[in-house]
Amino acid sequence: MRLVIEQDYAAMSTWAAEHVIKRINKFAPTADRPFVIGLPTGSTPIGMYQELAKACQAGRVSFKNVITVNMDEYVGLEPSHPESYHYFMKSNFFDHIDIDPKNTHLLNGLAKDTTAECQAYEEMIQSLGGIDLFIGGIGSDGHIAFNEPGSSLASRTREVRLMPETIRDNSRFFENDLSKVPTRALTVGVGTVTDAREVMILISGSNKARALCKAVEGHITQMCPISALQLHSDSIIVCDDDAAVELQVKTFRFYKQEEKLAREGLAY
Ligand code: PGA
Repeated sequence: MRLVIEQDYAAMSTWAAEHVIKRINKFAPTADRPFVIGLPTGSTPIGMYQELAKACQAGRVSFKNVITVNMDEYVGLEPSHPESYHYFMKSNFFDHIDIDPKNTHLLNGLAKDTTAECQAYEEMIQSLGGIDLFIGGIGSDGHIAFNEPGSSLASRTREVRLMPETIRDNSRFFENDLSKVPTRALTVGVGTVTDAREVMILISGSNKARALCKAVEGHITQMCPISALQLHSDSIIVCDDDAAVELQVKTFRFYKQEEKLAREGLAY
């Protein structure tokens, strides 16, 4: 696992955006050979999306031949609901880049048969040849997408019930009214994320510091779903200083030194 510790949220977002730009441009996607990217919602990736939109508008990257696959969606919210992830992706990202809307994929939280919807989503990912780069955030309890503690590390796309902590964390988007937060969601599984050829996780703020520490220094356990990343051969966590405060000093120094060497072209 690579851990990139940037000074603050802005620097973390810029690093993540530049990494995505580098990957897409290196891949040089075409209509016949598109780049497939997994995307998160939430407050953490907004800065990265803004940087990517700027880069796209400046002609530094194009999403014409990029296919997106989102992580999750609430059950029961209309796509036009301002807190639905359909709405989030359109207003925070898709409306500002040159992507073809038919290349964007999100789970349908209104599906009558959610089992069939989730199965079809997995099949769609397979038919695309898998995901080249899956980007994600984490919750303060170490969840990834809506895979709460206790989720199998081999889990696939499915319907889940949200934990009280997640409902509480997300209530800030629903006028701080717990009763307005959906209690169920459709989500890719931990296994769906870690099947991607590369995974990049963004973590910002001291409220995520314990989860980051567990992900990097802790055991691999279903009680911290993000810890599954330790088994991935090509994974990066990009965080800010605030999120790194629970790491041991020796861990912090090790990764800082690794990045210094990487930037000098002496590692990887
Ligand atoms: P956040 O959510 O980016 O809004 O903190 C991340 C998550 O819960 O996965």
